[in-house]
Amino acid sequence: MAVEPRSKLRVWDLPTRLFHWALVMLVVFQVLTAELGPSWDKEGWYRLHFWCGYAILALLLFRIAWGFVGSTTARFGHFVKGPGAGLAYARSLLGPKGAPDIGHNPVGGWMVVALILGLLVQIITGLFATDTDMGYSAGPLAKFAGDALGRRMTTLHSYWINLLYVMVALHVSASLFYLVVKRENLIGPMFSGDKLVPAGMVAPGLRFVSVRLALSLLIAAACVVYLIVRIGG
Ligand code: HEM
Repeated sequence: MAVEPRSKLRVWDLPTRLFHWALVMLVVFQVLTAELGPSWDKEGWYRLHFWCGYAILALLLFRIAWGFVGSTTARFGHFVKGPGAGLAYARSLLGPKGAPDIGHNPVGGWMVVALILGLLVQIITGLFATDTDMGYSAGPLAKFAGDALGRRMTTLHSYWINLLYVMVALHVSASLFYLVVKRENLIGPMFSGDKLVPAGMVAPGLRFVSVRLALSLLIAAACVVYLIVRIGG
C-alpha cells in the first residue's frame, strides 16, 4: 500500500496544551489528596486538596475566557456544533476514514464542554461543602451555605466525582479509539500542537492569539479565585 505523503499543521496553541496537561496533573493530584487525606495526615492532605481545587478553578475560568478570545481551535464557537452535526459526525465514524479534524470534532467538542462543566460542579460543590463533624475542614464558602445546603453540597461533591470518572474514562477511551481503530493520533498533537495531515492540506482562517493574552487571563482568573477564597475568610 502506498504511503500517503504528510505534512505538519499547527492545530493547538501553547496555552490550550498547557491547560490540558496541567489540568490532568491537578485532577490526578486532587483525587489522590482526597483519597489519602482521611487515612494519613488529614489536615496536611486536605490543605493540598483545597489548593489543588483552587488551581483547577483558576484553570477552568481561564479556559472559559480562552474559549471566547483565544486561538481559533480553542474557541467554543469553533467546536460547539448543533446535535445534527454531532449525529452526522458519529455516523461518519462507521465509514472510511475522512480528512483529519482541525480542532475538536463535533462530538469531541461536546465532551470538552461536559468535562469543563463537570469539573466546575465538582469544584463549586467543594467550595460550599461542610464535613466538619467527620473531622474534615469545611470549604471556604461553607459558611454562606448553612447546615442543610452545606450537607447537600458535601453529598453531591462525593458522588459527582464518579460521574467525572466516567467522563474521563470515555474521553481517554475515545482518544485511544482514534489511535488504534481510526489510526489518527489525537494525543501527540495535544503535546506538540501539530497534527499530521495529508500533504498540501491547509486550514484557512486559523488564527493563533498571543501567549501574553493567555497569561493575563490566567492571572485574572487566579485573582478571581483569590477573591472567592478571601470572601470566605
Ligand atoms: C483527568 C483527566 C483528563 C481531563 C479532565 C481531560 C480534559 C480535557 C479537556 C477539557 C480537553 C479540551 C482541551 C481544550 O480544548 O482546552 C481535552 C482534550 C484532549 N484530551 Fe484530555 N483530559 C484528561 C486526560 C486525558 C488523557 C489521559 C489523554 C491521553 C490519553 C487525553 C487526551 C486528550 C486529547 C487527545 C484531547 C484533544 C482531543 C481532540 O483532538 O479533539 N486527555 N481533555
